[in-house]
Amino acid sequence: MCGIVGYIGNRNAYPIIIKGLQRLEYRGYDSAGVALYDDGNINVSRTPGKVDDLRAIAASEMTLDGTLGIGHTRWATHGEPNKRNAHPHLSNSGDLVIIHNGIIENYESIKKELIQRGYVFHSDTDTEVLVNLIEEVKKKENVKLGKAVQIALNQVIGAYAIAVFDRTKPDEIVVAKLGSPLAIGIGEDEFFIASDASPFIEYTNNAVYLEDEEMAIIRRGKEIKLRKIKDDRVAYPMVQELQLNLEAIEKNGFEHFMLKEIYEQPHAIRDTFRGRLRADQGLVKMAGVDQHLERFRNANRIIIVACGTSWHAGLVAEYIFEDLARIPVEVEYASEFRYRNPVITDKDVVIAISQSGETADTLAAIKLAKSHGAFVFGVCNVVGSSIARETDAGAYTHAGPEIGVASTKAFTTQITVLTLLALKLAKEAGTISESHFRNMLTEIEAIPGKVERVLESNPEVEHIARAYKDSTNCLYLGRGYNFPVALEGALKLKEISYIHAEGYPAAEMKHGPIALIDEHMPVFVIATRKGHYEKVVSNIQEIKSRKGKIIAVVTEGDEQVRELADHVVEIPETSECLSPLLTTIPLQLLSYHIAVMRGCNVDQPRNLAKSVTVE
Ligand code: G6P
Repeated sequence: MCGIVGYIGNRNAYPIIIKGLQRLEYRGYDSAGVALYDDGNINVSRTPGKVDDLRAIAASEMTLDGTLGIGHTRWATHGEPNKRNAHPHLSNSGDLVIIHNGIIENYESIKKELIQRGYVFHSDTDTEVLVNLIEEVKKKENVKLGKAVQIALNQVIGAYAIAVFDRTKPDEIVVAKLGSPLAIGIGEDEFFIASDASPFIEYTNNAVYLEDEEMAIIRRGKEIKLRKIKDDRVAYPMVQELQLNLEAIEKNGFEHFMLKEIYEQPHAIRDTFRGRLRADQGLVKMAGVDQHLERFRNANRIIIVACGTSWHAGLVAEYIFEDLARIPVEVEYASEFRYRNPVITDKDVVIAISQSGETADTLAAIKLAKSHGAFVFGVCNVVGSSIARETDAGAYTHAGPEIGVASTKAFTTQITVLTLLALKLAKEAGTISESHFRNMLTEIEAIPGKVERVLESNPEVEHIARAYKDSTNCLYLGRGYNFPVALEGALKLKEISYIHAEGYPAAEMKHGPIALIDEHMPVFVIATRKGHYEKVVSNIQEIKSRKGKIIAVVTEGDEQVRELADHVVEIPETSECLSPLLTTIPLQLLSYHIAVMRGCNVDQPRNLAKSVTVE
């Protein structure tokens, strides 16, 4: 994780870096720091806490001048998130300064050697080891910074996106990437460096995304030079035009990004199926699938790998694929799959789901699957991300930037893409009738409007949130397609309000969680009319007879559950397999309101990060 930003050009670097770091805080926010070159000196300010804390102290600690600088917002891996471990880190001579996103796995052995050579360390980080290794190589081999970085990186094992500069050569920044993302924004006589393009979007639309094992030497006012870290081959920068706009990464009047993103779902879902779905012609077009239809056709099974909320979208997809396309599906946590010696063959299709496209475990699972000859299909939101590049083919969700750490619109757009894929494969395999297929397409087109109607229940949901904001435990129940929604509802509450919550298949309640139910236990039940309704009603009765508080998500016009429940939220009628796109909305809103009422930091919950690039 961690966010990195750098600037070299003619403007004052500090405001660009600070604003950029704030946009990257979704990547980590334990501590922050900045280093600026000014008049022969490197001035550094670092602090535990957020970028706002850094802004508050930087001015009193140093001069904020300089047209060359780097900054960092951290999610701690090595060492506590205190001032001494915050980046940037200086080398022993004070000449080199570095920021780093990633992990150097063999840092301890390198550190030992450096200590033997007289180096002194002021932090517990792997990053300080790296900058001193670069310094040692530079001195010993008598080479320039770029070469020293290259030699040093060939000695390290791990993952990194780094930016480093030399006090004695203040017209140059060297950057390198392996495993963690790094984008270079190209302006006129100026360059921006960042973990993603959001820090420089108002300055330039042109960016180069470094590939793994590439480094770049960036000189003020000159062209950037790209090299392969391993063998020094020259690489050629592919300049891409950015599609991002500033509005998409700002709050636009909403109090939090999470709320904005919840409200963006009708639009995001529509953007995701636009151009892919032709209900009038009975067609689903997905370029990444059309070109590889044979691989899907011959698939013995589909293995879905993902983490967190994306894993929940994978569970929904399991139901849809098996139900509609009759293909066996396994859904795996990427972190388990990659280490458990799974059986994978070249007849398997692996679908990797990831909002960020950077999750380390998912990326490693993909590499493992590919090494066994499986065909890997990616469902990512971030265009050009590592997972999008590593997969054989894929389909983007078009959710737009998701900044709130708790994933919302990524989840519903992932389900949208996966539903389209399932329908396409079902049609191909002849496991769905033409009329069912066409009805489904029409139904998907109606989903954004229905999500809008669910969003109208926000005041009611806020009212319910008030009643349960002080709970210490909550249970979420759902069956079939809505069992993963129960898991996701519980995850949202845990993540942002720090209330313990568990999601369960409703029928499984009898095998354990029912013991927890008393008058203090709120139970959120998804009880839509088409999803094993009668069975869920029985489960509700079981809760009620044990005095549990029942909050139910029901289909419009439902009377039976309304009689039993303490509160209900209605969703419009839809087909069962699309219902997660609607039932998840009130649960997102509920978690949001509870977190706000408890005074939690909704967009930046403690200990979490949006993009988990460590194992
Ligand atoms: C982190 C985020 C979650 C996300 C998960 C997987 O834990 O906080 O919101 O679901 O990573 O991320 P991905 O980008 O692969 O979907």
